[in-house]
Amino acid sequence: MRKHSVLWLVGPAAAVIALACAQLPTETATAGRGASLVAPTTPAPPDTSGYELAPPRDPNGIGKYYMGRQIAHVMGHEGAEWLERRDRGQEEGTNLLLKALGLHPADVVADIGAGTGYFSFRLARLVPKGRVLAVDIQPEMIAELNANKARNHLANVRPVLGQPDNPHLPAGALDLVLIVDAYHEFDHPREMGRAIERALRPGTGRLALVEYRAEDDNVPIKSIHKMSVAQARKEMAAVGLEFIESVETLPQQHLLLFRRPK
Ligand SMILES: C[S@@+](CC[C@H](N)C(=O)[O-])C[C@H]1O[C@@H](n2cnc3c(N)ncnc32)[C@H](O)[C@@H]1O
Repeated sequence: MRKHSVLWLVGPAAAVIALACAQLPTETATAGRGASLVAPTTPAPPDTSGYELAPPRDPNGIGKYYMGRQIAHVMGHEGAEWLERRDRGQEEGTNLLLKALGLHPADVVADIGAGTGYFSFRLARLVPKGRVLAVDIQPEMIAELNANKARNHLANVRPVLGQPDNPHLPAGALDLVLIVDAYHEFDHPREMGRAIERALRPGTGRLALVEYRAEDDNVPIKSIHKMSVAQARKEMAAVGLEFIESVETLPQQHLLLFRRPK
């Protein structure tokens, strides 16, 4: 899997700058015995962003941490073929996953981090009277989504070019947001989480978060591309989403369901 180079540069570069600043001495000069030119320091306000920049503990990460978890590199569009691999359905139990979502024909759904639309087009068949917003930040993936839309003749899929901190979703309009194997690489997870919460229908709108099980060493995926139930619950609670349940019937992934409160 290739790295998404543009986004990759942001984290480590910022981390180096932050570290360099942290190492600057607080007193740089003195004038005469006992006299200091340095103004008395006021304590920095507490950091409430939830983000931290530090050298990558895992080289597959961007050097940016959110609630103790290092964010992974974005999977570049060069990996598009892997998303459409022939044995994916069996390997990941994708039919089981789609069934467990319990969709209704008129539901409005967003597939965030849609990639080639492997799930978007399958979702579209389950909501023939509704629609699917297929969001991705890579223009190459949007081009792929448009090509697949024409090939599949599915008019109820709308590709949306998002930004790393904004999926461009309508407010309070979505019955379900699906995120498969993508959340761990969002480089602004807090902003994305808040935007998702706002886009869901109050009281009923759900988030379905699918991530490889971090608790299971037998899942053959690098640890930075996995997530534990505890971590996901912590991050979703921080943006106001209520945990519903963890569905553990998929071969390798958690299916975690959350709801926007009333
Ligand atoms: C590993 S792929 C998974 C694609 C798809 N969900 C699937 O399972 O076939 C992750 C995708 O998330 C996208 N992505 C990363 N950060 C994003 C963000 N903040 N908003 C939307 N998409 C994002 C990447 O561009 C990439 O296409």
